[in-house]
Amino acid sequence: MIKIKTEKEIELIRRACGIVSEIMSQLKVYIRAGISTEELDTEAGKLLGKFGAVSAFKGYQGYPANICTSVNEEVVHGIPGKRRLKVGDIISIDVGVKLNGYFGDAACTLPVGLISPQARKLLAVARSALTAGIAQAREGNHLLDISSAIQSHIESFGHSAVRKFVGHGIGSQMHEEPEIPNIGRAGLGPALRAGMVLAIEPMVNEGNFEVEILEDKWTAVTKDRKLSAHFEHTICVTKGEPEVLTAWE
Ligand code: MF3
Ligand code: CO
Repeated sequence: MIKIKTEKEIELIRRACGIVSEIMSQLKVYIRAGISTEELDTEAGKLLGKFGAVSAFKGYQGYPANICTSVNEEVVHGIPGKRRLKVGDIISIDVGVKLNGYFGDAACTLPVGLISPQARKLLAVARSALTAGIAQAREGNHLLDISSAIQSHIESFGHSAVRKFVGHGIGSQMHEEPEIPNIGRAGLGPALRAGMVLAIEPMVNEGNFEVEILEDKWTAVTKDRKLSAHFEHTICVTKGEPEVLTAWE
């Protein structure tokens, strides 16, 4: 069952998401060659404290950090550590916030200084795949219209959509129904209704879609070790245009 949120619940989710946006905007400023992913996590912790919110990730199934930082061939769930960014890297930052019992979740992939044309293309394709998915999140459409738009967008540029991880409903839990695959056939799945709140999160591999998990039990990497990018927004389905709750600068 996909929950239809009341306006009051949506307002609480909106607030959690506002903090996600603010943290994302402020973390972006720290992205430069030389900083470690651990230092980014520390800054995220300070920002969470400043806004009176907590990380949605820390402690979730034992996850040890505030945010996820996934560099280059890392797809998602990279654990912040000693690794220092260098010019030409790409880094995905995933931020999840809990505030007053409600959740917000977003991710984006950023360049570290000048990156290769191939990396730049990957980021553009992944970002626009999210936009294409969100555009389908309309009352009366079907859930897999989102998935199908994401998949066809990604594949039209010769990249692949990761199948192992999916987007999700979100609200008083970080992960609620439904699962939102990044591949699928338009017209299938439950009908979308105003008041559904969804975290849509395409992960795009430069090469093959296959991923594997490192010994740390979290970090997902591409099997072919080519680059991967990840963009995510929490959105609300409305009677008109979808409302992006985690928009950032
Ligand atoms: N955005 C991811 C998700 O929705 C982040 C989860 S990280 C975890 O699943 F550590 F909490 F698992
Ligand atoms: Co998510």
